[in-house]
Amino acid sequence: MEDTLLHIENVSKSFSGVKALDSMNLDVRRGSVHALMGENGAGKSTLMKILTGLYTRDEGIITFDGRELDTASIQLVIRQGISMIYQEVNPIMNMTVAENIFCGKEICKVERFWIDRKEMERQAAELLSSMGHESIPSGCRIGTLSVAQMQIVEIAKAISNRSKLIIMDEPTSAITEKEVDQLFKTIRDLKQKGITFIYISHKMDEIFRIADDVTVMRDGRYVGTRAIAETTADELVSMMVGRAMSEYYPKETVPIGAPMLEVEGLSSKNLLHDVSFTVHSGEILGFAGLMGAGRTEIMETLFGIRRADSGVIRIGGRKVEIKDPQAAIANGMAFLTEDRRKTGCFLDSPIYDNIMALVWKKFVDIGGIRHSRCKKAAKDQIALFSTKTTGLKQKMRELSGGNQQKVLLSRWLLAEPEILILDEPTRGIDVGAKYDIYKEMIRLVKAGKCIIMISSEMPEVLGMSDRIAVVHGGRIRTILDRKCADQETILRYAAGLE
Ligand SMILES: Nc1ncnc2c1ncn2[C@@H]1O[C@H](COP(=O)(O)OP(=O)(O)OP(=O)(O)O)[C@@H](O)[C@H]1O
Ligand SMILES: [Mg+2]
Repeated sequence: MEDTLLHIENVSKSFSGVKALDSMNLDVRRGSVHALMGENGAGKSTLMKILTGLYTRDEGIITFDGRELDTASIQLVIRQGISMIYQEVNPIMNMTVAENIFCGKEICKVERFWIDRKEMERQAAELLSSMGHESIPSGCRIGTLSVAQMQIVEIAKAISNRSKLIIMDEPTSAITEKEVDQLFKTIRDLKQKGITFIYISHKMDEIFRIADDVTVMRDGRYVGTRAIAETTADELVSMMVGRAMSEYYPKETVPIGAPMLEVEGLSSKNLLHDVSFTVHSGEILGFAGLMGAGRTEIMETLFGIRRADSGVIRIGGRKVEIKDPQAAIANGMAFLTEDRRKTGCFLDSPIYDNIMALVWKKFVDIGGIRHSRCKKAAKDQIALFSTKTTGLKQKMRELSGGNQQKVLLSRWLLAEPEILILDEPTRGIDVGAKYDIYKEMIRLVKAGKCIIMISSEMPEVLGMSDRIAVVHGGRIRTILDRKCADQETILRYAAGLE
């Protein structure tokens, strides 16, 4: 076809005998935004890594812009017009914006050998301003930018490389709502100029906002391609999970019991102001708010990662001092953090060690560690969330992003906490696995535990919480009952309008 920019046919890839991609096909139209969807471990990232020369394929054909693509090296692929912005943006932090954009193609003063920094900065500034991002100074260090700004710089770099195709792997997992709007505007502008995008995301609403076409893959295989105007979320979900899903939130009303965690007047300098709330046995308390509102800071303070200047915390009616995370864990708390890479993911260790990290002690008796019991516990967790892995010995690094998240959740569950703090528990998790996690949350509150759930996904907050605390500017603005909560009310409080 004439307007096909990228054609992938029968691409397969195995990792030590396990098929990650199995005769995968993909056709992307020139000048379109093509979404790629599929469950955790379906092979989305792997396919893109093959396309960009990071991995080699076992077999298959890739043609790009009318000729066969040479994927011998990353640089070669970039030169042929394909750039990728990775799931975790990874620029060199102490380079300047301009140095990063012109990395590998530095501008030199003609008759001399040194790099012409001024000229590079001037051109970088011009490029950024042509994209509508003149607010990003081209001479400042990358490390001082926000994640969203770093992404824009990466896109600028792709443009300066004359990329015809830009690939984005879950680009919105760490940026604010407003920044998503900006990113989408940038994508639309560039689409007007004929640039093509492949866009990977688990967020259905984003797919319908930005994509023209969508391809679904499952277990490394091609399932189908649809024009976005001719499909529905329900159809895409059933293509992804292989069955129709009738409900997304398995919410049940559980009798609310005694207070388990009481927080009174928690304050810390400029971050938190007089934060007070109570969570009861059997209850899921949602925390809504915009990014930067202070939700994570509240939880880090409760968990002993930050110090509060004042305030009282009671657990089971008893006043406690939580000086560090060890003390929090000893008091029956668990904290699944939003940033899995930074906190507690041992990438080069086996999944087994990652899952058991907190609970080895529980499985020790006179005979030493009871490995058979440990293994059973770990295997039960893998089964619980259908974590996709070749076995307990597999290295954490080899798991797909969403499956790493499942392993971390399993680690906390094995510690059998009474009070669970889950910060964006389903970020990067596919629809089917989300359902499994919600089911598990319900099982836990039925067993008398309590859960605090921070989430930026409004349907999730509304779907799973019994009450919803809305945070703005380091304060709890209101706590709404499930029955009176709706998206608009929450957003008004979250924006500080009420
Ligand atoms: N370097 C590797 N070594 C071994 N197995 C790997 C490696 N990279 C990926 N895999 C496996 O290939 C499969 C596909 O993983 P991939 O990362 O492509 O999934 P994904 O669709 O991007 O999932 P997610 O939505 O969770 O990001 C997974 O089962 C994963 O464990
Ligand atoms: Mg991935």
